Amino acid sequence: MAGLFDKQVDDYLVGRPTYPKEWFSMLAALTPQHSLAWDVGTGNGQAAFSLGEHYEQVTGSDISESQLKHALQHPRVRYIHTPVSMSDDELVALLGGENSVDLVTVAEAVHWFDLPKFYSLVKQVLRKPGGVIAVWGYNASVTSPTLDGVVKRLYETAKPFRDRKTQYLWEGYRTLPFPFQSVGLGSEGEPLPLEIPKEMSFEGILRMLRSSSAVTAAKGQGVDLLSKEVIEELETAWGGADLVRTVTCKAFMLAGKV
Ligand SMILES: C[S@@+](CC[C@H](N)C(=O)[O-])C[C@H]1O[C@@H](n2cnc3c(N)ncnc32)[C@H](O)[C@@H]1O
Repeated sequence: MAGLFDKQVDDYLVGRPTYPKEWFSMLAALTPQHSLAWDVGTGNGQAAFSLGEHYEQVTGSDISESQLKHALQHPRVRYIHTPVSMSDDELVALLGGENSVDLVTVAEAVHWFDLPKFYSLVKQVLRKPGGVIAVWGYNASVTSPTLDGVVKRLYETAKPFRDRKTQYLWEGYRTLPFPFQSVGLGSEGEPLPLEIPKEMSFEGILRMLRSSSAVTAAKGQGVDLLSKEVIEELETAWGGADLVRTVTCKAFMLAGKV
């Protein structure tokens, strides 16, 4: 699994949407204390970095060492590599012990996790009372009807290469188990809809599409879904390779407490 994400480092750095700063103010306002936040599946660390503005300490963790090597540095953020072989006890100790974490965040990653195991760990480390977990994802971009049509067709061709685990993402986390009490920002079965606007170059959108796990998996099996023809079609729909356009990603969030 880490291998899939190891291959996507460069495309992630350039191609993925940036989470709005207000999301982190909104989440920080939910926790009475601001000692420690844990960003799980931190990847390039963009959520951890933003949490560094609100929490005294932030731990970003990931199973992919290559992602962490390129993660954004912030004086209040430390990154830890957590291979699947790491025991829960070891991880709890590394994080600072039971009841030590004020906010757990998982950005575009929780669908990859062993959910019962992860949620049980979260329940151990969250501060009680007051600790909050927030998970979010995004699954589609809206730019223009022409471009969206081409992207939709690309995603259709990628369907056979989708990992079963990404199904939650394609369903907008509406089916994602989330056994936490609502704090007013989405709840199990009813994620909060959000939008992420991003100015993107044509190269940026290509990198975003290339970093999709299904497109990466297809490539690993010798199928290049972003063929020359598809790229040309995308470029025409984009309006030319030199244009910068606003892409809006449809996102969804669930937050809760123990
Ligand atoms: C789609 S990326 C999201 C990265 C980052 N959170 C973001 O929003 O851009 C998913 C990340 O989850 C990590 N990941 C997958 N399974 C994991 C697991 N079981 N534990 C920790 N990290 C995991 C991957 O290595 C990858 O960096």
